[in-house]
Amino acid sequence: MIRASAVDLIGRTPLVALDRIHRGPGRVVAKAEFLQPGGSVKDRAARAIILAARKDGRLSPGAPVVEMTSGNMGAGLAVVCAALGHPFIASMSAGNSPARARMMEGLGARVVLVPQVDGLPGRVTGADIAAAAEVARRIAHEEGAFFVDQFNAAEGITAHASTTGPEILEQVGGPVDGWVAAVGTGCTFMGVARALKAANPLTLCAAVEPEGSRPLAGEPVVKPGHIIQGTSYGAVPPHWDASLMDLSIPVTDDEVRDWHRRLAVEEGLYVGLSAAANVCAAAKLLESGRLAEDATVATVLCDTGLKY
Ligand SMILES: Cc1ncc(COP(=O)(O)O)c(C=O)c1O
Repeated sequence: MIRASAVDLIGRTPLVALDRIHRGPGRVVAKAEFLQPGGSVKDRAARAIILAARKDGRLSPGAPVVEMTSGNMGAGLAVVCAALGHPFIASMSAGNSPARARMMEGLGARVVLVPQVDGLPGRVTGADIAAAAEVARRIAHEEGAFFVDQFNAAEGITAHASTTGPEILEQVGGPVDGWVAAVGTGCTFMGVARALKAANPLTLCAAVEPEGSRPLAGEPVVKPGHIIQGTSYGAVPPHWDASLMDLSIPVTDDEVRDWHRRLAVEEGLYVGLSAAANVCAAAKLLESGRLAEDATVATVLCDTGLKY
């Protein structure tokens, strides 16, 4: 089968069992999102938002596109914009890994690095993200570019409700018992939760939050810095639908580092830190006793470890 372009390489990722690092109770299965052309789960939202904007006329053929990104949405947008013929400008906090800027630039994007406000390299805070968003808004205004606005674009959620979620159901062969995901914009968590709960309202949906920064759990943020890049900016995302979250599972930086290493050396999966946080939390959910001994918990391997 010949796919028409890189845009058509997005989605339909394989589901892999993580039976070596979690031997029970139950089973963790994970979508290999790092295999997508932009190297992350964000390719799905990038494609959905750009195609919707082209369809309803908000984005004209050949017009420029701008977005604030932690790097992954930018890589997805760079892929989609290259294939569809739009110049792409990314504004990114300097606290995100330089590998991400290199990839976007390699795909022809212009990258504007925004100095950090209160975070440290590798630890990006909500204030850092707000500063990068402000730069994106300014560029949209000054250069007449289409502002993707991933934190508010509804297509980001529907992308996962119509692709990632149904793919999991098809690949597992029916409903799953649990779903676990770290939250950046929340599009992955909410979109998949919506699809899985539609198939089985009892599917337990858990957000993953770093210890000390758990606004979704309703806790005050006492430690805004953490290593799970691309997620948990210390505030509830703007379009968050709390009815989709049954619980929030905390993870520590040390746990994330440990699961990151184990995923690589025991599973052969060299993935990113949010992927490690997700798998750690999925194992915790299965060990919590809240699910049956033979339960299946699905999660996502959000991006490749080569981006760090
Ligand atoms: C590495 C990584 N993991 C997880 C996420 C979270 O995805 P979402 O924005 O759909 O919540 C992101 C978002 O940029 C990311 O870059």
